[in-house]
Amino acid sequence: MGLLRGFGLGSLATLTFTASTALAHANSTSHNSPGLPLAINTWGGPFIVATDAAYVALLEAQTSALDAVELGCSTCEANQCDGSVGYGGSPDENCETTLDAMIMDGTTMKSGSVAALRRIKNAIGVARAVLEHTTHTMLAGDFATDFAISNGFVAQNLTTLNSAASCAEWKAGGCQPNYRINVTPDPASSCGPYSPLPLNSSSRDYTSQLHSRGSPEGHDTISMVALHRSGVMAAGTSTNGAGRKIPGRVGDGPITGSGSYVDGDVGGCGATGDGDIMMRFLPCYQAIENLRLGMHPKAAAENAVKRMVRKYPAVQSGIVVVDKEGNHGGAGSGWTFTYAYRGGSMNETVVVTVPPLNDRVSDL
Ligand code: GLY
Repeated sequence: MGLLRGFGLGSLATLTFTASTALAHANSTSHNSPGLPLAINTWGGPFIVATDAAYVALLEAQTSALDAVELGCSTCEANQCDGSVGYGGSPDENCETTLDAMIMDGTTMKSGSVAALRRIKNAIGVARAVLEHTTHTMLAGDFATDFAISNGFVAQNLTTLNSAASCAEWKAGGCQPNYRINVTPDPASSCGPYSPLPLNSSSRDYTSQLHSRGSPEGHDTISMVALHRSGVMAAGTSTNGAGRKIPGRVGDGPITGSGSYVDGDVGGCGATGDGDIMMRFLPCYQAIENLRLGMHPKAAAENAVKRMVRKYPAVQSGIVVVDKEGNHGGAGSGWTFTYAYRGGSMNETVVVTVPPLNDRVSDL
């Protein structure tokens, strides 16, 4: 690989910023392929810099699909996109930003990922190093940082003035909201340290006690699928997770089949949303298996999202699914999801708006 080390974007990034960033918009019906190469990812708005970076790299530099995914996600890590990717976002209870990322090769089905990565900005670059320089799939925490440093990445403080101020404000407000349940003092009104309260797993309301008190903070993500003009596919994800998370928390981002998934014989998928719920369902794995059974990408996406909504009606989720020809569709719940794509000879990125499935209860 050697394309990137800590945002040494070089000529491919230059291509990115000379690309058109004008936006066109499309509705949420099924979409036929615009042709190859193709870059497609979760979210529009500030995330289209990633779409353009990956697409232009595929088109003009004819990079590999893996390189395009790495470049696209790295672009978001470097400029923070909407704040949910890269350094300085989603500080945890200790005010630290930690990163989750994965990258997957649709030819070999090999994936590399990092979870709760500390002090390294270019998380998807480290995930790529896991893929290319180990036979493992995931490295986590401080040891992932050690691995990154030994592979040439530079350790840096990921806290910014904004993330520090945001965290200080949260603490001053009694650490509200937060992710703790069944602890004392009452996590609905107090900061920790907390101690666990006893639970009786035989009681009638035991399962209801295990539900969260809501979704404290946003948890967006960039997840991207790239199709090289040869048909080779790759997928990847990068995120700083969920704001106010309990230190050590890992979301769906680095989980193969949850954050993203790709089988070059079938298609690829990228996800965003409440990772604590989504990783229980492997929605991207489900969507690609739906494609394998013959579903159109949009139907495949909707089926995967419905499986989550049936159990968690309020879950915020969004997945974008693309088949190996480049036909694509998306589905989401709990919010209005968008995804962006650019392929074939398109001279601008198109953003597709996907209304939440929860608004169509009869479909569930
Ligand atoms: N989807 C990002 C997260 O929940 O970690």
